[in-house]
Amino acid sequence: MTGKPDPFSVPFGTILCDWMTTARANDGPYVYRGSPEPYGDLTISPAAHVLHYGSAIFEGLKAHRQADGSLAVFRLDSHVERMATSAALLRLPRIDPDTLRRMVIDAVEANSEEVPDPPGSLYIRPTLVGTDPDIGAAARPTRSALLYVVNSPVGDYFKGGVRPLTLLLETSIPRTVPQFGMVKCGANYAMALGVTLDSMAANEAIDQVLFATGDDITETGAANFFLADDERVITRRLDESFLHGVTRASVIELAQHLGYEVEERTIDPDELIDWAERGEAFLSGTAAVLAPVGTIIRDGMTLTVGDGQPGPNTMRLRQALVDIQVGAAPDPFNWRTPVRG
Ligand code: PLP
Ligand code: COI
Repeated sequence: MTGKPDPFSVPFGTILCDWMTTARANDGPYVYRGSPEPYGDLTISPAAHVLHYGSAIFEGLKAHRQADGSLAVFRLDSHVERMATSAALLRLPRIDPDTLRRMVIDAVEANSEEVPDPPGSLYIRPTLVGTDPDIGAAARPTRSALLYVVNSPVGDYFKGGVRPLTLLLETSIPRTVPQFGMVKCGANYAMALGVTLDSMAANEAIDQVLFATGDDITETGAANFFLADDERVITRRLDESFLHGVTRASVIELAQHLGYEVEERTIDPDELIDWAERGEAFLSGTAAVLAPVGTIIRDGMTLTVGDGQPGPNTMRLRQALVDIQVGAAPDPFNWRTPVRG
């Protein structure tokens, strides 16, 4: 690794590490050769299923440098499990969790020298695409597939680091179709791009679109949404319409551990007005970590959350999460998988 920029000086995900792992399935299990290979272009047919019929899923997780200099992957098993679920929901060849786990660990170990110190981390991107060379397979699942893991040293996802974000509440255009919200597939992001770009073009202060079709607040384009005060944290009840964030699940467990009451339920946009006067709001996600929300724009009206600054409960939960991720606190939930550094 030579001559790569500081991850905090370039956009998230634009530096790629020197090593990756790949496995192919061909009408059977994924065959992983058992060791990393140099990062480089992949070969697939121009007729590949993914290029025509969108059979593509991915994951996003992180490895963190620990206080003692070693490395740990955060919530590896949960991400592997979610990817296996996404594969099943898009009818991609079944993922063997042990193979994917090995591929993630091998990639991180190979790229260990590129893992920045906190607050930086190594972003891990497992990806799976259908490769059947068959342009007639619109109504057939792919039987062959390419599974691979690439890594990226990252800093902040939101430019400017930990700061109060501005969200646009979108109540008419959905992020994706309800039955695929919980699938981490590339198509969901492609579908959300138009509304996101249009919103940001209209108001450059907007950091994320908060999707609330039918007055039901679910998630933003890249994170889950929470309300908080001194006693409670509230987030949308799980169903298939939005992504079941691993960070969301972690925040819920942590909040309970810290004595907060957790409510998983629907959140109505009208509730935000009430809440903004006395409470806090934040986003959770692997890339987003736990990010304070300072402003919500609804129907052209600006709603300031609290005093518009990061709230104490938000920052307390963020610190508790980050401390476990980087090994500055014990790991009572077994969330860290140690990796050779
Ligand atoms: N919702 C969307 C649309 C996302 O892209 C992400 C990021 O992965 C999340 C929520 C948060 O999920 P996680 O905490 O598993 O990263
Ligand atoms: C993640 O947080 O891992 C995501 O997938 C968000 C992505 C838009 C970078």
